[in-house]
Amino acid sequence: MKKYNILTIFPDMFRDPFALGVLSKAIDSGFFQVNPVDVRDYTADKHRTTDDYQYGGGQGLLMKVEPIHKAVEDIKQKQGGTRVILMDPRGKRFTQEDAERLKEYDSLTFVCGRYEGVDERVVDLVVDESLSLGDFVLTGGEFASMVMVDAIARLLPGVLGDENSPLEESHQSGLLEHPHYTRPAEYEGAEVPEILLSGNHGAIDKWRREKSLALTKKCRPDMLKTANLSDEDKIYLDTLGKKKKIYVALLHYPMKDKEKENVATSITNMDLHDISRSCTTYDVKKYYVVTPLKAKREIASRVIKHWLEGYGATYNVNRKQAFGGTHLMDGLLDAIADIEKEEGVRPVIVATTARDSRANIDFQEMSALSEDKPCLIIFGTGWGFTEDIFKMSDRVLKPIDGAGNFNHLSVRSAVAIILDRIYSF
Ligand SMILES: C[S@@+](CC[C@H](N)C(=O)[O-])C[C@H]1O[C@@H](n2cnc3c(N)ncnc32)[C@H](O)[C@@H]1O
Repeated sequence: MKKYNILTIFPDMFRDPFALGVLSKAIDSGFFQVNPVDVRDYTADKHRTTDDYQYGGGQGLLMKVEPIHKAVEDIKQKQGGTRVILMDPRGKRFTQEDAERLKEYDSLTFVCGRYEGVDERVVDLVVDESLSLGDFVLTGGEFASMVMVDAIARLLPGVLGDENSPLEESHQSGLLEHPHYTRPAEYEGAEVPEILLSGNHGAIDKWRREKSLALTKKCRPDMLKTANLSDEDKIYLDTLGKKKKIYVALLHYPMKDKEKENVATSITNMDLHDISRSCTTYDVKKYYVVTPLKAKREIASRVIKHWLEGYGATYNVNRKQAFGGTHLMDGLLDAIADIEKEEGVRPVIVATTARDSRANIDFQEMSALSEDKPCLIIFGTGWGFTEDIFKMSDRVLKPIDGAGNFNHLSVRSAVAIILDRIYSF
């Protein structure tokens, strides 16, 4: 029988949660045991003290190391060892994979903190791993441990009756589960999907798989990155994908120079080529190269024409394709007007920056937004955008965070990385 020990100062909290339903039956049948252990039973003073003030000052009490240490030693001795898990908002977030892994242990001991948590030496001396229920703070670890015991115990063979039933569930397969329906077939006008009444099990399986894929894409697109997907799944997901409506503009005016003066910067051949290639790779709708300087536009126009219509078009057809969406513009307002004409609405203007403080949209939100509305992502040259550009922007995109402290990418690299991050959702 599996033993799930809970170290707590409130053992009474565990009287009811496991006294009902399928888990209570599994306990009665001897699959597992929930064993609340009162930490106070391991204190030595007459007040049975389990908490104390923090060294170094600071608000709030901490749970003392000694009673927890002693309780764990006692459990280890009685149960021939136990895996000790601290309930801790700083810990790794608990997932279905953890439940799968932990169901293999014969004895688990959940340490429930209270107040400000536990003396750090509990972690050093006693704890094998720290797990968090999620990115929020509870008043104590008891509810977190109940949730984890529930998720683990239901995976034990035989606990749910039908051993196969957990296999199709949300998270178990790496996807969220499809919707379910039961009788009646129609309720207040809301009908059960016809396919589920058809008796065609092949078609029902396909419908369920597709609903599961669609739901995961909508609610947890991050899960698709690690889910086990067949070629058929991938083709189906592609048909679902709302097209992103992303436009890119590279601004050469008004930009700041080193002295923070407003200037017009030069168009570079590399920015023309490389950003056109990145934008075409990611299916960006148009790439605007913006400068009010006629002479610069003329030079850039000759380069583009060479690849679209001149010798370059036959010399390298890929480059011809890459330049197909590149447009030279006098000013940013012209680019905005061009998009408005095409889409029928003004695009959301999204500025980019290397500084976090201004950012108010991340890559995933940007991905979702661009499926709803056309978005013009503007990139700067020189020493960055003037304040006016930020003022006219609706959103500012989160900067790229690299691994080190250096934060000076070329605009070409920044465009490529940002597009890749947005299109990864
Ligand atoms: C008020 S919390 C302490 C929070 C701690 N001072 C911090 O900021 O990380 C008290 C106890 O509740 C439990 N707890 C709180 N949030 C939790 C979460 N998200 N997952 C698991 N346990 C949690 C832990 O056992 C923790 O020691």
